[in-house]
Amino acid sequence: MSEKIKIAILTVSDRSSAGEREDLSGPAIRDALGEIDHEVIWYGVVPDDPDQIKNTLLELADKKRADVVLTTGGTGLSPRDHTPEATLAAGERNVPGIAEMLRARSGELTPHAMLSRGVSVTRGATLIVNFPGSPKACRECTEFLIPALPHAVRVLRGEVTDCGKESADGEKASHL
Ligand code: MTE
Repeated sequence: MSEKIKIAILTVSDRSSAGEREDLSGPAIRDALGEIDHEVIWYGVVPDDPDQIKNTLLELADKKRADVVLTTGGTGLSPRDHTPEATLAAGERNVPGIAEMLRARSGELTPHAMLSRGVSVTRGATLIVNFPGSPKACRECTEFLIPALPHAVRVLRGEVTDCGKESADGEKASHL
């Protein structure tokens, strides 16, 4: 990895953005990132408004050039849950495997995992991933995602063009 992974954390919550509830989910993601070589370049809270979510994602990808944007909240079935739609509107390419993996691994922990509609997309060289809204879900999903994150960023940056030459932990595969 040529430089630290630049991570932005976006909490989507009407109540937290109105100051009615402390945001514990964004900080839960930050704390769960742990040992990977990263820098949190931006953190913020927006309401469950599709335009505000989308515009913030555009800013984080196009202006702030985040490698990864992790969102939390607004992925469920309530009428104000718009994060997946706003993320798809900001994205250029769908990355279904990440959302599939998060739901599958989460489903081993709670049957409610299937109620999260979270998606994952790329925009330019930025990967955007939706997590559910609870701090617990954020900790769990961050841990599920971390093993693939450095490789995803290397590929998006164009530092790796041949995945077969790199193993899951970033070392050169021993048989090559
Ligand atoms: N995924 C994990 N790993 N852990 C959880 O506790 N909670 C679920 C689900 N995914 C959960 C999870 C619940 S209760 C809901 S309603 C959906 O995510 C959507 O959450 P959101 O509307 O807060 O985004």
